[in-house]
Amino acid sequence: MQELSPDQRPKAPLTLAARTNLWPLTALGYEVWRRRALTLLSGRPFPLEEELSLMLTRVQPVVGRVFLDLGTSTGLYARALLEAGAARVYALDLSPAMLRVALQKARGHPGFVPLLARAEAIPLPQASVDGVVVGGSWNEFPDPQPVIHELYRVLKPDGRLWVMFSHRSQSPLQRLLEAAGLRFPTLSGLMDSLTQSGFKVDGWREGSVGFVAGTKVTMQSSVQS
Ligand SMILES: C[S@@+](CC[C@H](N)C(=O)[O-])C[C@H]1O[C@@H](n2cnc3c(N)ncnc32)[C@H](O)[C@@H]1O
Repeated sequence: MQELSPDQRPKAPLTLAARTNLWPLTALGYEVWRRRALTLLSGRPFPLEEELSLMLTRVQPVVGRVFLDLGTSTGLYARALLEAGAARVYALDLSPAMLRVALQKARGHPGFVPLLARAEAIPLPQASVDGVVVGGSWNEFPDPQPVIHELYRVLKPDGRLWVMFSHRSQSPLQRLLEAAGLRFPTLSGLMDSLTQSGFKVDGWREGSVGFVAGTKVTMQSSVQS
């Protein structure tokens, strides 16, 4: 995990929020925060196990399938998918520090494949994965449209998508985080972007922590349905 290859380098300078993910200390402490993150963000007990179980239910079938964990950080979703029987999970992140920790944590999971790359330029062939999962990274993509285009491209027809994100609120803290480069979408805005880009949204949850699940619809299956 050295650094992004020249063709992967971001066109615009990284935001402050994105740069903090490059720090080794952020990577080392990441899962301590992550374990409590949804409880703190949603203001109710929200154990990580509950989130992982929701994600795994929504991206079925998992056993023997190939997934992409977009903005994996230290590989939390990737490991959960492999432990649930996925054959391979591409764990993509632009932070070498995050991927180094992810590799250590994924020892003993032969299907774990780290990818040092940007979500806007996924180094995988068209229609090569059965599912894409995005946990929290959605809030960090400066412009979601190129990312939606890329994840649609790499998904097989009828491939599954799961997005967990922090929902827009009136909180002054969110305005501060926006200044550091984070984005806080609304559930309806995210669902509109996905449906306009060829996804059929079939599951969602409103709240300070939002979820959206959907399927890549191809021309043929949209005509049939
Ligand atoms: C909030 S963390 C989410 C981690 C993980 N998905 C989870 O559920 O714990 C966001 C991660 O996305 C990565 N990231 C942000 N923007 C990215 C981009 N454009 N391409 C690839 N990775 C990105 C960051 O480096 C960081 O590790």
